[in-house]
Amino acid sequence: MLQPARDMLILGTSPNVGAPLYERVGPRRALATWRRAPIAGGVRFDALTDDLALLLDMHSGIRSAVILYGETHPDRCFADPAGSEKLNVDSIRRAIDILRARGVFIVFLSSQFVFDGEVGNYVETDPANPILLYGAQKIRVERHLQESCERYAILRLSKSYAETPGDGTMLCAWVDEIMGGVRRIRCATDQIFSPILVSDIVAAILAVIEGECRGLYHLCAPGAYRRIEMLEILIAALSRHFPVAVDIEPCSIRDFDLPEPRPLDVSMQPAKLLAAIGLRFDSIEEACRRIAGRIAAARV
Ligand SMILES: NC(=O)c1ccc[n+]([C@@H]2O[C@H](COP(=O)([O-])OP(=O)(O)OC[C@H]3O[C@@H](n4cnc5c(N)ncnc54)[C@H](OP(=O)(O)O)[C@@H]3O)[C@@H](O)[C@H]2O)c1
Repeated sequence: MLQPARDMLILGTSPNVGAPLYERVGPRRALATWRRAPIAGGVRFDALTDDLALLLDMHSGIRSAVILYGETHPDRCFADPAGSEKLNVDSIRRAIDILRARGVFIVFLSSQFVFDGEVGNYVETDPANPILLYGAQKIRVERHLQESCERYAILRLSKSYAETPGDGTMLCAWVDEIMGGVRRIRCATDQIFSPILVSDIVAAILAVIEGECRGLYHLCAPGAYRRIEMLEILIAALSRHFPVAVDIEPCSIRDFDLPEPRPLDVSMQPAKLLAAIGLRFDSIEEACRRIAGRIAAARV
């Protein structure tokens, strides 16, 4: 039987965002690329050595592409400026040029780290001023899209988290520590962001593609949270079900020995995106209530 042509390309099926996106869309509609770990129904693609044009020749039905791959850890970008520049800037610009020439709608995942964190609550018209190399690389790709393309969306993503026990994302990592008997957690009081649930990221990407929402958007949940506040919200949610004996040791993000100092307040506002796609995003309180409820149910 003839297979329907896949019309969406997921470039770099990253564990945090790409895999849940692919799971939601499915292999009949999306072509997912992988580099090291094979994905069922996907194709191997190394952005540094493989030719995207050849891949598109073999899959001529592609109408939209979500660019997710890259060196996404700021410290690793800083440790290898030339290597990360090749991957995060040069190869992505090349991919953009190839996709644009074929009339593909491009969705590029940028980052909250395009801001210096001096002000917070950023909207799309606020000037970007990255202090991390990773953020500067994202800005170079943003500029390339803005200067060379019409059919694109830049989604500046805040910190993502999920709700699956053991997934290693922020809330679940704390849950693992607490349930594993850790009695003291060190947590920064001065780092502020607008974290967003992965399922909301996936829904937003799909809505952006569906509506071909063009331009620059902030992809984050409403609200600005200190890291320590998020831990407090989680502990309060767990404490409604069972006693939680854990002390929080407040500290500064600057106390961690990081090669590049982190911007402090990278909270953003999602109003422009929410108006464009007509969705609502869950709050950290809602997510904590669900996580705590699941853990309590599993304990009985
Ligand atoms: N997750 C967040 O909280 C967050 C926040 C802000 C922005 N973002 C942005 O959102 C996007 C997705 O983030 P993520 O956290 O899901 O990413 P991630 O988990 O770090 O995954 C990065 C992906 O890039 C792939 N990759 C690395 N080198 C490659 C190469 N040479 N060719 C092809 N693929 C290569 C990796 O594949 P292998 O593992 O096989 O090498 C991996 O699948 C990224 O652009 C990131 O900058 C994420």
